Amino acid sequence: MTQYAHITGWGMCVPEKKLTNAALAQMVDTTDEWIRTRTGISERHIAGNEDTTASLATEAALRALQVANLRPDKVDLIIVSTSTPEYIFPATACVVQDRIGATKAGAFDLLAACSGFIFALNVASQAIQNGTIVNALVIGSETLSRIVDWGDRETCILFGDGAGAFVLQGRNDPGGYLSGVMRSDGSGGDLLNLPAGGSKIPTSLATIHEGLHYIHMNGREVFRFATRVMVQATQEAVQAAQLTLDDIQLVIPHQANLRIIEAAARGLDIPLERCMINLDRYGNTSTASIPIAACEAVESGRLKAGDKVVFVGFGAGLTWGASVVQWSAPSEVKRKVRPERYRLLARLRSVLLRVIRHFEGLIWGQ
Ligand code: COA
Repeated sequence: MTQYAHITGWGMCVPEKKLTNAALAQMVDTTDEWIRTRTGISERHIAGNEDTTASLATEAALRALQVANLRPDKVDLIIVSTSTPEYIFPATACVVQDRIGATKAGAFDLLAACSGFIFALNVASQAIQNGTIVNALVIGSETLSRIVDWGDRETCILFGDGAGAFVLQGRNDPGGYLSGVMRSDGSGGDLLNLPAGGSKIPTSLATIHEGLHYIHMNGREVFRFATRVMVQATQEAVQAAQLTLDDIQLVIPHQANLRIIEAAARGLDIPLERCMINLDRYGNTSTASIPIAACEAVESGRLKAGDKVVFVGFGAGLTWGASVVQWSAPSEVKRKVRPERYRLLARLRSVLLRVIRHFEGLIWGQ
């Protein structure tokens, strides 16, 4: 039987702490006016000491499960898309799996920078459509403030922290994920990168001294690339869904720069009002920006069940992509579940598993 991959839950979480342009102007040689006119950004949220990529992802995931009314132990797959993982390994997705008590889920991270959420959505939807799994959690989460050079005015003004999550569920009624486009061009890898900390340039005192553990970017080139691929990817995804742009109620673009979104709207010949924009309050949260914008679009009534929406993004890699989704209502509630209550059970389970593993080690290790 054909399974359609419906988005039945959505949730977001941003750190409490805000950083305004005025506050940034105290840190580097910039002004509120320059940042607003060149990027459209007014403020962004910045991780506090307690916030990490996994903690933000966990909150967003629990909120999405709440909307979907789905118990964590019913989740088959968790994908966390991030460029700022909790660790290089284990995967941040495994940390989330343990914290929410998703006892039956396979979990892995996906790295496609700011396009990551689009790629993860594609992978999870395919797995549902081909019948391999039924329920998936797709999360985009970033703490970019931890890899930003707060002395570099060209990059530190752009980024913010946050997480957004979707629950995807296989159902028989048509709708949900309609099409997806994923593209990459590694020849542009040097335009936006974090040079050190990988196998090519392991972290050393010298790399830290040279600031190679921070984001490096050629802003003008990334800008040019972005305006070109946003239009191209949107058109390809809409065509693959056998639709035209007139069928699309809302475009939710990656929230990097207002001028990039304006150029894309011009290129697509659609009014800017058909694009969801919230980067003024969050900055560029990389792979989290699309699900965060989707949550706010639902909240403000701009995205309703039955609407056809395009998600389109671009980022380091270079990578870019788009998907067309017919927005779904959450599944019918027969019995209300409270996923956040599983948090305590999940913690107990995690401790118990560690204790058992310890004793097993003592017994079998001898
Ligand atoms: N405040 C004040 N002046 C700044 C500044 C800041 N924060 N950052 C750069 N400038 C200066 C530059 O030094 C330059 O000065 P100069 O002319 O004396 O050399 C001038 O402003 C213009 O710089 P330019 O790089 O041409 O600005 P721009 O209009 O291209 O805007 C970006 C810069 C970074 C905002 C823009 O290129 C951009 O958004 N690119 C895409 C980046 C992106 O989206 N990255 C993430 C991808 S997922």
